[in-house]
Amino acid sequence: MTTFPTDFLWGASTSAYQVEGAWNEDGKEPSVQDIREPFPNTTDFKVAADHYHRYKADVALFKEMGLKAYRFSIAWTRIMPYGKLNPRGIAFYNNLIDELLKNGIEPIPTVFHFDLPASVAEKGGWHNRQTIDEFVRYCQVLFDHFGDRITYWQTINEQNMLVLASKVLDGSNPSWKEVFQSNHHMLVAQAKVMKAYHEGQYGGKIGPAPNITCVYPKTEKPEDTMAAEYLSAFRNWLYLDAAVYGVYNHQAMQLLRALDAEPDVTDEDRQVMKENTADFIAFNYYNSMTAAASDNEEKEIKDQQSGFSLAGFFKTEVNDYLQSTEFSNWPIDPVGLRITANQLYTRYRLPLLITENGLGQEDRKTEEDNIHDSYRINYLAEHVKQLKLAIDDGVEFIGYCPWSALDLISTHEGFKKRYGFIYVNRDDEELKDLSRHKKDSFYWYQRLIEANGLMEEKQ
Ligand code: BG6
Repeated sequence: MTTFPTDFLWGASTSAYQVEGAWNEDGKEPSVQDIREPFPNTTDFKVAADHYHRYKADVALFKEMGLKAYRFSIAWTRIMPYGKLNPRGIAFYNNLIDELLKNGIEPIPTVFHFDLPASVAEKGGWHNRQTIDEFVRYCQVLFDHFGDRITYWQTINEQNMLVLASKVLDGSNPSWKEVFQSNHHMLVAQAKVMKAYHEGQYGGKIGPAPNITCVYPKTEKPEDTMAAEYLSAFRNWLYLDAAVYGVYNHQAMQLLRALDAEPDVTDEDRQVMKENTADFIAFNYYNSMTAAASDNEEKEIKDQQSGFSLAGFFKTEVNDYLQSTEFSNWPIDPVGLRITANQLYTRYRLPLLITENGLGQEDRKTEEDNIHDSYRINYLAEHVKQLKLAIDDGVEFIGYCPWSALDLISTHEGFKKRYGFIYVNRDDEELKDLSRHKKDSFYWYQRLIEANGLMEEKQ
């Protein structure tokens, strides 16, 4: 049996607005996340887990857990508030990166994770072509300041979900036409950023970080397979074919035409996309999807992982073989991770980095400050088993960074939906002391990393 590579990056993930807090400190501009109304019965993102002030202690805990990598995002609003370079923003991430490296942890930054600067959003956000240049300028600053210490850069977190579930993820509510024009600008911006990175010869690699799920046909009816193909093209391949091959996926284009949402694409856009492509693929995996032939009904997407239907193309179905999470009712499908990884590797032949995977659930802290989260351990252990099988299949992996390193605020379900290995003592109603406590999953992951993934005992 194959083992995990010796340099396999066992890591964990967070994103800036969900973990940092300090939303208006040290020159930071508010992002669209800071100024939006909280979802019912949740909290705002202003303090989050207070990682901005506690990053040193958090990194010490990451080291104790044995992390080899930390996947985090950089807040555009700290680095370039209102379009101007902010030395205090640079200093924060310089310090974080140095602290990680001092502790033997590989920093893996995402340059943009749902937190568009409010001033950029006011000017039309991604729908405005000028945002491409602002983004490239911002990324150039990142490469120049941090590029000497970074091996793996991710461009945009879950661009596919940001466009498909924008209502939940950044509070905007565009038409299909606007959605796919914005999406096109993001694709061009990404290609230009990859160009800048490659031309600058910073010595590392750069790639996208979409949310990818394999799609099963509900039955062996050929029409269900066609529906699954369309859903996959629309949800997965549109973004990755553009990032890796520099072209639009043909089935996705057919769908965009049907939605009257074909973007305006210039010759220069086509060229820049074709000539500047990804070095590796980072992807987030939470669940699979199941599709059947359309019954001509439309069903709106609710959040990143939920099903939806496009009349004439596909509808999503419940998979009767899978259980679901308590929160949000997302299917749980560890085997789907192996299938998804194989599909990605077959299509693109690039090394893969899992940048999110995890279980959001309410945790209880006991009076002795213990958190017994066996449900999370089970979820992660089952996914790690499948990851190992995917490696046996021959898929090339860089690492595994589950969501999340510590508790943080969910995109739309507040602090009560916890994902972390480290418990943060606060809830949606009260900030409390924000103290950190190691969950049972912390110790489990620590042992797993020590054994380089080959822990045979009951996990
Ligand atoms: C991914 C996002 O979609 O899923 C994260 O990249 C997010 O930002 C994670 O937190 C889990 O989703 P949620 O909605 O439970 O927070």
